[in-house]
Amino acid sequence: MARKKIALIGAGNIGGTLAHLAAQKALGDVVLFDVVEGVPQGKALDLAQCGPVEGFDVSLKGTNDYADIAGADVIIVTAGVARKPGMSRDDLLGINLKVMKAVGEGIKTHAPGAFVICITNPLDAMVWALREFSGLPHHMVVGMAGVLDSARFRHFLADEFKVSVQDVTAFVLGGHGDTMVPVVEYSTVAGIPLPDLIKMGWSSKERIDAIVARTRSGGGEIVGLLKTGSAFYAPAASGIAMAEAFLYDQKRVIPCAVNLTGQYGVDNLYVGVPCVIGAGGVERVVEIALSDEAKANFQVSVDAVKELLVACRGIDPSLG
Ligand code: APR
Repeated sequence: MARKKIALIGAGNIGGTLAHLAAQKALGDVVLFDVVEGVPQGKALDLAQCGPVEGFDVSLKGTNDYADIAGADVIIVTAGVARKPGMSRDDLLGINLKVMKAVGEGIKTHAPGAFVICITNPLDAMVWALREFSGLPHHMVVGMAGVLDSARFRHFLADEFKVSVQDVTAFVLGGHGDTMVPVVEYSTVAGIPLPDLIKMGWSSKERIDAIVARTRSGGGEIVGLLKTGSAFYAPAASGIAMAEAFLYDQKRVIPCAVNLTGQYGVDNLYVGVPCVIGAGGVERVVEIALSDEAKANFQVSVDAVKELLVACRGIDPSLG
């Protein structure tokens, strides 16, 4: 059986980490694309030389030519500019919108059958724009935010409760960033919801509220520490988890930015919600009943995404 093909658009910090993880996990042959000459080629060669040490046989190729992504099964997009300290995700909008146009057109021409995972920020607007520019079906274009946001939430919760991260589940909704909605009543330790754990004396409402706040600004915390870039290990791991769900038809129930068509009262907008990812791409959107508080927070998040799209349309009127 021929190997699968994974194309990574953007060979920066996340792109390079994605390439390493994809190769280590032997997900398929990897093509690393970037506009900068030499960087994708250099990283691909360096990573290929991990093969004999780490024991993988997949090939890695660096390129500046979109023709090399032809036939890709999965494409993960990190092309663009990363957030710098003091820069909000929204400041990135103008620059990264232009990048999405070039990437979307490249995908449309060379790999229209791929499952596309967008990571570039501001995520909810970029994934929408990428879908518009590429013209791919909505169920084949998703944004990576919820897997990362819930991983951050799970990490902080496991640390609070002194239990394994494996036994902590977390549920997040909404846009990526300050308006994301961690849903406390659906987040659990071994199936026990957080409000029950508070009643059991494992934590307090104040401490959980502080964890929620830290999760919401999880990306900013790392930007502040790194000073010269943004998080890349966990974002890459999250993107790979989504690629695996598609490639292995795992039908995982994970939060992703997907195009809603009436679910949660939202129409024709990419927002983070739980969904089933399998060989068919986004196979189902999971619609749950929300508390009034979660509903109100979700609406704030939806409104923030809508504002971004208005700004995108202002910058590029070709976006209908
Ligand atoms: N086409 C392809 N690649 C591009 C383009 C383009 N039009 N424009 C820029 N790039 C490349 C850059 O040359 C760089 O190698 O995208 C890469 C981005 O890499 P980094 O700056 O290291 O950023 P990274 O940390 O990987 O984050 C990428 O993901 O989480 C988001 O906010 C983050 O939007 C950022 C993206």
